[in-house]
Amino acid sequence: MKIVMVGSGYVGLVSGACFADFGHEVVCVDKQDSKIAALKRGEIPIFEPGLSELVRSNAAAGRLTFTTDLAGPVSKADAVFIAVGTPSRRGDGFADLSYVYAASREIAQALDGYTVIVTKSTVPVGTGDEVERIVRELRPDAEFAVVSNPEFLREGAAIEDFKRPDRIVIGAEDERARALMAEVYRPLYLNSAPILNTSRRTAELTKYAANAFLATKITFINEMADLCEQVGANVQDVARGMGLDNRIGAKFLHAGPGYGGSCFPKDTLALIKTAQDYGTPARIVETVAAVNDQRKRAMGRKVVAACGGSVRGKTIAVLGLTFKPNTDDMRDAPSIAIVTALQDGGATVRAFDPEGMEQARATLPAGVVYCSDAYECVAGADAAVIVTEWNIFRALDLDRVRQAMAAPVLIDLRNVYRPEQVRAKGFTYLDVGRGSQPPQPGAKTAAA
Ligand code: UDX
Repeated sequence: MKIVMVGSGYVGLVSGACFADFGHEVVCVDKQDSKIAALKRGEIPIFEPGLSELVRSNAAAGRLTFTTDLAGPVSKADAVFIAVGTPSRRGDGFADLSYVYAASREIAQALDGYTVIVTKSTVPVGTGDEVERIVRELRPDAEFAVVSNPEFLREGAAIEDFKRPDRIVIGAEDERARALMAEVYRPLYLNSAPILNTSRRTAELTKYAANAFLATKITFINEMADLCEQVGANVQDVARGMGLDNRIGAKFLHAGPGYGGSCFPKDTLALIKTAQDYGTPARIVETVAAVNDQRKRAMGRKVVAACGGSVRGKTIAVLGLTFKPNTDDMRDAPSIAIVTALQDGGATVRAFDPEGMEQARATLPAGVVYCSDAYECVAGADAAVIVTEWNIFRALDLDRVRQAMAAPVLIDLRNVYRPEQVRAKGFTYLDVGRGSQPPQPGAKTAAA
């Protein structure tokens, strides 16, 4: 199969490299000259485990090429995937589809022979209809179909997710397009990955429904964690007790500082907007988005409380800045709200992240002191906060940390340590929802 990926960002590059690895002939297109030049030299612009090797080996085998010329490869393609960005629009939070529609117009001009145009970017319900309308208007003569094939890749595990997916969702309106998509994913049929054939609108909505549900699961357990702190229960045990019920499932029940990243915040907002537009408000998702936003800032207040009610003039070490480990992505990371709240309270913030330093410098407010490792970061600090659960923060030399700090206070927002283990080293230790903090003022006891 001849495949073109329009957009060589995160989704385009991972999908393109994996399709090439299946044996397809893949051309990745991008408008940015410098990005394409770097990719041709084998330099990968993003941090994703295993991606460099996959790109290099498939490029060396001649199955994966890079270009800024869209028209040439599209004219020869069987399938053209649109994998351009759909950022949240300023103001209303709706997905900005201008890149998707611009790509559709360019693709339309270049079509030659039957071609399936596939939206891979996460796009609101009805976008496929609009892409079809744009292409039909520009090229009434063209033979084409528009298919929705959403991606469910997690950053840090994207290649594994692509090659061993829980499911593949294909939303198409005709049999010819379905048959072509079956060929594209044939190697995965052999791995017996479930393929869900649906209408185009159903596929578009499935992606949003899945992400909103996962965001809801996280937000639910985060609220349970707050309650656990008040009643002296342990949220990890609650999550385990819930998760062993097959109807609930154990995943995405880790309490923490709130979800971030390039998908959940953006996709929940877009779903809320779509639901409002159609007159069927998604009230649960609206609440989830609001609760999650408030939670990030509340984590800053938790640190302030751990420091005796004020951080004015104090130094706080923040360990982990990216929205999750194994990525350099800072988009909507909880660290942004936490650092801002601490600075607003008058603290000096020292920060370290294993991969996200460059992105953090571009994202966090001014005045943060960036450090080159965890021990330098905690030096002289009045409290240290683990915001992202990178492996190196799970295995800190706690004696060394305590000696370096001005006051041994550790706030573990990812529950990576056992409370007794840290307390035995002389720390004041706070976590999220494991009953290991004193009940808050106003909390009821059983006797009260
Ligand atoms: C997500 C979806 O998982 C993926 O299917 C979709 O295609 C894109 O969005 P990603 O954003 O890469 O992927 O990260 P994910 O691992 O899902 O984590 C999202 C956020 O939720 C992170 O901030 C993470 O720390 C948080 N999270 C996740 C929790 O706080 N608790 C959990 O139990 C799970």
